[in-house]
Amino acid sequence: MPILAPSILAADPGRYAACAREALEAGPEWLHLDVMDGHFVPNITFGPDVVRALAPVAREHDARVDVHLMIEEPQDYVDAFAEAGADLLTVHVETCPHLHRVAQQVWDAGCEFGVALNPATPPGHLESILPLADLVLVMSVNPGFGGQSFIPQSKGKIQHLRRQLNALGSNAHLQVDGGVHPGNAMDLLRAGADVLVAGSAIYGGDQSVAENVEAFRSALTLKV
Ligand code: DX5
Ligand code: ZN
Repeated sequence: MPILAPSILAADPGRYAACAREALEAGPEWLHLDVMDGHFVPNITFGPDVVRALAPVAREHDARVDVHLMIEEPQDYVDAFAEAGADLLTVHVETCPHLHRVAQQVWDAGCEFGVALNPATPPGHLESILPLADLVLVMSVNPGFGGQSFIPQSKGKIQHLRRQLNALGSNAHLQVDGGVHPGNAMDLLRAGADVLVAGSAIYGGDQSVAENVEAFRSALTLKV
């Protein structure tokens, strides 16, 4: 069954907790939290304190706290985000010359380890870490901002990584993040993704958050 992970980035920053609750009440099992440092990406969002504030909301709904670190030197912050309540910690391969060491750090901190790829980073960069990762995140926009259009080449990358994960017998999640909406959700699932991150498709537009979640649900069930 696919997992929908609403991204709080697209919610009203003055009402993050209420917005998280609104989405999770509609059924999604993960809450996606985008941490940006203004260096690795040209935007700044929030740090461990906001994760600490939102983790209890996720717990209320038996949802997992999925933290996407778009930051330089992620190894310096692993423990802080784990202590704040992250269940999964995803770092970018582009920021980690010692990715294996960071993975170890994430596991030692009690979290699952995810690794993310920017649109221009070839999947081959993950070859050595792939058998170990708990999650692989394919960025389908250039990270930094919500509301961008899906980059079509991302679909081929998802298919490629799904084949590799299957060949390894890996149970790792394959997550797609950026420009995901009900219109492309089924296509991405068929390509091999099992976790769909959605920001503006959940918190934007004229419909309610519950209606937006429902639009994903019907897109993913009607066309099977
Ligand atoms: C972008 C973030 C995404 C973002 C997706 O850098 O990693 O999680 O919230 O936003 P949408 O769904 O609006 O493309
Ligand atoms: Zn993200």
